[in-house]
Parts: sequence; structure tokens; C-alpha cells
Amino acid sequence: MIFEETYRPLLAQLRAEGLYRRNFGCVEVELAAVASRTGVRGEKLRETHGDRLGSFLNCSGDSSIERLVTEPLDLVCVATPDDRHFAAARRALQAGKHVLIEKPSVLRLQELDELQSLARQRGVLAKVVYHKLADPDHKKLRTHVVDGTLRHINNGYCSLLEPKQISGQQFAEWIDGRNPGTYVAVHYIKLIDFTFGSSLPGGARLARIGATGQRGLVGPAEGSTWDSVQLQLIYRYSDGREAAFDIHTSWVTPDNFPGYVEQEVQFRFDNGVWSAHQRKRGVEVTVEERTPISMKYTPNHHYNAAFVEPWNERSQRGYGLEVIRRFFEEVAFVEFGGPADERTHRLREMSDLAYNDLSADRPTVAAVQALEAILQRHAAGQPGCMVSVNDSLGGLVLRAPGAVEPAILYPNPV
Ligand SMILES: NC(=O)c1ccc[n+]([C@@H]2O[C@H](COP(=O)([O-])OP(=O)(O)OC[C@H]3O[C@@H](n4cnc5c(N)ncnc54)[C@H](O)[C@@H]3O)[C@@H](O)[C@H]2O)c1
Repeated sequence: MIFEETYRPLLAQLRAEGLYRRNFGCVEVELAAVASRTGVRGEKLRETHGDRLGSFLNCSGDSSIERLVTEPLDLVCVATPDDRHFAAARRALQAGKHVLIEKPSVLRLQELDELQSLARQRGVLAKVVYHKLADPDHKKLRTHVVDGTLRHINNGYCSLLEPKQISGQQFAEWIDGRNPGTYVAVHYIKLIDFTFGSSLPGGARLARIGATGQRGLVGPAEGSTWDSVQLQLIYRYSDGREAAFDIHTSWVTPDNFPGYVEQEVQFRFDNGVWSAHQRKRGVEVTVEERTPISMKYTPNHHYNAAFVEPWNERSQRGYGLEVIRRFFEEVAFVEFGGPADERTHRLREMSDLAYNDLSADRPTVAAVQALEAILQRHAAGQPGCMVSVNDSLGGLVLRAPGAVEPAILYPNPV
């Protein structure tokens, strides 16, 4: 899905136009190879878009990634289901390729440690895509925070509700034992952490994580597959004040819902309130026999949409593509942005970018790892667990109600 929505149109544009910036010149970009489970989609892609993407190697099966990385590639983008990001990204980094991973980067800090260390050893970039950070509304929110217009966040809520077709069709192959929080709450976990937390000097730091959820639609009521999840993140400032965020997610919203994804946020500061409806951005459209199933009443044309430009060219654009293009620019800058003996300096400059580098994804992965562990305990008959971050016993420490012994999910500092 995400390949079709964002990578494919971007790769077609890059092949047609090249990638240009004054500091690295014009760089040719070509899709050299794809890897997938069965190869069927790769074949279809060749048929439908081969004229725009060129000839590429189509690898499939258990050793598809092994085969892919033997090609002379500069970078690899990983868009497998989230519990299969780690193996693919590790193999690509081992082979010395720059890597971009779809969100969430990985599910455990132990995996993140390994990828970070491989990227350092091999001298390549290892990054993750969070397109919400490139949404103009969120850029403005962060600008207000950085400029001190909005001061000291105290609490907030976010909701992101996906239609039933996601759990019932799109992800049916890998959904067993999974939850919608890991997959979509992570958009807001990152937005909160990046905007109010770890990217800011003196920003709040993640302190505790709690979660609960509902079962019974996607799987059995006592099973381990979740319909909806409510996550709470508690952040702490160095002066002892705290901030709390509730993130509600679901993948069982009716398919005839007016928008593709219901998304809403509210953030409350010492001196202000920010409320945003990410779906109702001002356009409402109705078309007989199309809305709201094949076309939605309240589209978001800023994320990603196909247009006829005023100069009559067809285009596809939006921040969903922009954020991936930016990664290509970062790689081009490292490889072609100056003399070879200054590459290390350029690599460091790009790795220091907190919005997408894996080294800055630690609080987000910590929240995801805690969420998964809490839901797993819940499904095993132990609801109400809480995970603390960087306490005296370890980086991620899970405590169950009534249990004496805590479980250390991750021993080192987050
Ligand atoms: N940024 C966003 O808004 C957004 C939206 C949707 C999905 N995503 C992310 O993109 C990723 C993929 O989601 P999707 O909806 O595109 O899924 P999808 O099911 O449409 O595609 C997954 C692809 O991975 C391939 N695959 C699965 N296991 C593999 C393996 N072991 N080796 C090689 N290939 C394998 C499948 O063949 C398939 O082509 C997920 O991490 C998801 O979180 C991001």
C-alpha cells in the first residue's frame, strides 16, 4: 500500500527529472530492484509502471532480500509489515546500503541498538519515515513551540481511527496477535516526542507508559489480536512538572466512514490550546455512487494527491512524498555533496537530524516496545501493567499490579 501511494510516484518523478540541489548537483535516481514475499506485486508493477520506472530486478521468496542486497544499490527502503522491518534493515545495513524504514522503525530497543551500531560501523544513514512531521500544520505547531509562542505543554489527546478494511483485508495476512497502536499511534508518539520532547533542549522526557484496549471483532475477545487501543504517555520536565498524552487508535471503524482515517488532536499549553482536525481540512465533496466508499467525503489533499496542475501536467504530490524525497536528498548530499575526504563530516551532519535518524527514534521505539509488552501481559490475563522509563532498575521496567518482581524489558538507558 505505502509503496503504491508514495514510493512509486516519487521514484517515477525522480527517474524522469533527476534530483537537484546546488550542493550536490543533478543526481540520477533509478529503481534498481524490489523484493517482496511472492513477487506478484513486483511483476504487476513492471506491467503497469515499467515504462516510468525502467527495468528493475524483481526478487521474491525467503531469500529475496539476500538477493536484493547483492545488487550495486546506494540505498534501500524497507516497507514490509512492521515486525519484519528489523531483519530486512539489518541485512541492508550489513551490506553497506543507506536505509530508510517505514514507521515504526523497529519494535524493540535491542533491535534499534543493533541497527544503529551497524550504521555507524558501515558509515551509512539509517533513517525512518514519519510523514506527520512534514505536515504543514505540525511544522507550524513545532515552530510555535520552538519560538516560544506556545509555552510548556501540559497534556493532550490524539485519535487515529482506521477503517475495518485495514484489519479485515489490507493487513489480514499478518494481523494475528497485533494491535492498531503500534502501527498508527506511532505517528503521534513521534509527533509528541519530536515536537515537545527529545529534540528540544530542556524539553520533556518520556517517563511512564500505560495502555489498554478492546478485543472481540478482529479476533476472539480473550485473544491477542486487538481491535482498538488507548495508550497513555507521561512525560516529565527537569523541574518535576509532568505532561500526559492519550492516544486512541482503532482499525475497526466502519468502512463507510466519511474520511479515510479519522484524525484529531488537541494540545494544551500553559498559555494556549492547539486543536486540529487532520481530516476536516476544509474540503467536503459528495459524488453519487462513489462517496464514501471509493472516494471519501473529507479528503486530505495535503498528504498525497493526484492533480492536473494549472499548466496541464499530471502530478502527484504532498508531504507523504516530500518526506521520502528529503531522504534521497540526504543520501545524495552525503555521497555527492563535496570532496570524498569530507564525507564523514557530511554523514554526521545528516545523522544528527532528529526528525528521521534512528538514533533519535529511541523514545518512540521505547513507547512501542512498552505498549506491545503491556498488551501481551493483558492478553495473558494480567491487565493494568505500567512501564517506567530510565528508573533505578533499567531503561524500560514493566510492573504488573500485585506482582513483586518487575520485568526488565530493556536494561540500558533509553
Ligand atoms: N507512512 C504511512 O502512513 C504508512 C501507511 C501505510 C503503511 N505504512 C508502513 O509501511 C509498511 C508496509 O505497510 P503496507 O500497508 O504498505 O503493507 P502491505 O502489506 O501493502 O505491503 C507489505 C509488503 O511487504 C512484503 N513483504 C512481507 N514480508 C516480507 C519479507 N519477509 N521479505 C520481503 N518482503 C516482504 C509483501 O510482499 C508486501 O509487498 C508498514 O511498516 C506500515 O507501518 C506506513
